[in-house]
Amino acid sequence: MDKNRIYVFDTTLRDGEQSPGCSMNTEEKIKVALQLEKLGVDIIEAGFAAASPGDFDAVSRIAEVVKNSSICSLSRAIENDIKQAGLAVGKAPKHRIHTFIATSPIHMQYKLKMSPDEVIKRAIHAVEYAKTFVDDVEFSLEDAGRSEIPFMKEVMDAVIAAGATTINLPDTVGYRLPTELGAMVKELSDFAGDRAIISVHNHNDLGLSTANTLAAVLNGARQIEVTINGLGERAGNSALEEAVMAIKTRKDAFGDLYTNINTPEIYATSKLVSTITGVEPQQNKAIVGKNAFAHESGIHQDGVLKHQETYEIMKPEDVGVFKDSTLILGKHSGRAAFRDKINQLGFDKVTDEELNAAFERFKILADKKKEVTDDDVRMLITDEALNQSKTYELVGLQISDCSNGVPTAAVSIKYKDAIMTDANIGNGTMDAIFKTIDRLTGYNGELKDYKVISVTEGKDALAKVTTRVSFDETSPAFVGHGLSIDTMLATAKAYLSALNSFLSQKERLAKTQEHQV
Ligand code: KIV
Ligand code: ZN
Repeated sequence: MDKNRIYVFDTTLRDGEQSPGCSMNTEEKIKVALQLEKLGVDIIEAGFAAASPGDFDAVSRIAEVVKNSSICSLSRAIENDIKQAGLAVGKAPKHRIHTFIATSPIHMQYKLKMSPDEVIKRAIHAVEYAKTFVDDVEFSLEDAGRSEIPFMKEVMDAVIAAGATTINLPDTVGYRLPTELGAMVKELSDFAGDRAIISVHNHNDLGLSTANTLAAVLNGARQIEVTINGLGERAGNSALEEAVMAIKTRKDAFGDLYTNINTPEIYATSKLVSTITGVEPQQNKAIVGKNAFAHESGIHQDGVLKHQETYEIMKPEDVGVFKDSTLILGKHSGRAAFRDKINQLGFDKVTDEELNAAFERFKILADKKKEVTDDDVRMLITDEALNQSKTYELVGLQISDCSNGVPTAAVSIKYKDAIMTDANIGNGTMDAIFKTIDRLTGYNGELKDYKVISVTEGKDALAKVTTRVSFDETSPAFVGHGLSIDTMLATAKAYLSALNSFLSQKERLAKTQEHQV
């Protein structure tokens, strides 16, 4: 084993997806997984297979398409969870089961209501059972950050003997300071020696998750569990981009330690995750925030122009931010220039169908907008890829009176080659649009969340709308994406997109269940 290699375990699709407002459907999870593979992530935690049929479906489909990263599913230390995890990851060329139980006094006493001995027995059984499905088993001592070291050593001895190959020490509630976490990892990684890889999984409740991850690496951890944009339960998890770039940038501190992350893919991955979830990183977020490489002050701008390193410790290109490459496309640009731009932006898996559809939309946009920028093109392609299920398509929208009269929307939708049109009034323009769509489609959506951002600056910017809509009580809310220079058009598209996503998931699950009968 290479002692300097830090394995990157990404849990955006599991811990990240657990954070409020971040749920993704199966197709979206597949897109993220393929991008994580391109980013060079070693292990992708694709979900919690036993959580629901939808989660099982997502993990097993990711296992079918990802070839280079290992695919992992989380499971509690419960036989059925482990079985579902084993079945779901089975088809991946490289796969892992990740099982866990809490080891802190507070969790054992109040949550599990189990004695330490019972916890150890359950842990051993979980690992032994997981081994009947896969060779590679990771065991997590949940709430390790608040667990007692002698007990953790007992658990580690037991689960390593049962076959666990990676031992994860989560700071589940983000409680530890870097000095404390570093000391804990040092003691436990010396204790494990060559018997297992020590991993860390740090939450950000005190804003210390990345500092803790780095302290752990300096003290012997060789796997880091991270998420894109730092998504995750509550205040989130340690961000992949921060930990990876710190190790890469501070060679003086980390010596020969390295990850296999293809860092120029970081920005595209961050964008894909924020586009899908609708959760944008804060503007001043390290590495991927909008301002991460922007210099506002004249003194800074002057310095960077004279010598980049005066105010930049990383090259923006190293994380995939190409500041000067906003090669503007215009209405005279042809399909070849458009294809070139898409390749340059790193979209190498775009199908001809997606390209043609995006090109048509680009032409319409270029007619209306002076300059079509990289971010516009990136958004057009992503929007096309995210809206592949087109059961219902918006073909026309007319709205009237937003001030003194009664807000009204007339909507035309294409469904199975027929065009249906209807109009309705509402408490506001959006309400009128949604009511009309509900009446046309026969589904009564409940809007849970609505976000609009402008893709670029300028009055003629594209509006990107993300909706989260619930269509029945039994399934989660579905995310919809709409993109247009007109915000209300983008809104109607995003609402229909959520409905299309709901319908295609329903259809897929019905087919899977049919197969199983
Ligand atoms: O935060 C945590 O403890 C977890 C475990 C399940 C690894 O997410
Ligand atoms: Zn976690």
